Amino acid sequence: MSSLRSLIGPSILNADLADLAGESQRLLQSGADYLHLDVMDGHFVPNITFGAPVIKSLRQHLSHDVYFDVHMMVAEPERWIQDIAAAGGNRFAFHVESTDDPMRVIRGIKEAKMDVGIVVNPKTPVDKIFPYIGSVDMALIMTVEPGFGGQKFMTDMMPKVEILREKYPDLDIEVDGGLSPVNIDVAAKAGANCIVAGTSVVKSEDPRSVIETLRNSVNRWKRGGGQTS
Ligand code: DX5
Ligand code: ZN
Repeated sequence: MSSLRSLIGPSILNADLADLAGESQRLLQSGADYLHLDVMDGHFVPNITFGAPVIKSLRQHLSHDVYFDVHMMVAEPERWIQDIAAAGGNRFAFHVESTDDPMRVIRGIKEAKMDVGIVVNPKTPVDKIFPYIGSVDMALIMTVEPGFGGQKFMTDMMPKVEILREKYPDLDIEVDGGLSPVNIDVAAKAGANCIVAGTSVVKSEDPRSVIETLRNSVNRWKRGGGQTS
């Protein structure tokens, strides 16, 4: 895992979305490596957030080197590839459960010149994405049921991360949902190297220290020198 980067990508879902650019700047100035943008359509998940128009506006406020990790919790992911690419998305992470032909979605994302993320819901076995790992840039293991921020981290998702890490030592593995300094060691020890954290960062008085704590844990476990606190 030592060649892997330790990346912290706050989710802005629970931020003040009326001040999305200001909140995003604050997170980046606090040391965020990338921004995790949660797109929800009210069909694939029981919530609606925002889509390409908002992402396009946000991109206009932030420098082009800010990496937008767009988490597409939508029923027809292919329908939105071009819009998200045009809006300035860097990675398009789609749910394996949302399509009958993941390879077709992967090809579409690559044609739109975005990185590819494939996402697994808590109820989906991790081996469902094995056939696609060779074609994607990142695998996201959901540690909450998608749809809302502020939920409790699902520790029982860690075997999925361990299996994936064991099988694919160089893969970027992202975890998303309920991550905080309290549970980061468990996720880092399992092998996650890309950490999405929303509430624990956004609602903190000191987001910089939360981000540092999360990154330090991944660094520690990546070298194999970690121990759960
Ligand atoms: C949930 C989203 C997550 C969530 C993370 O459906 O995919 O990105 O916003 O927020 P916290 O860290 O508060 O669970
Ligand atoms: Zn997300």
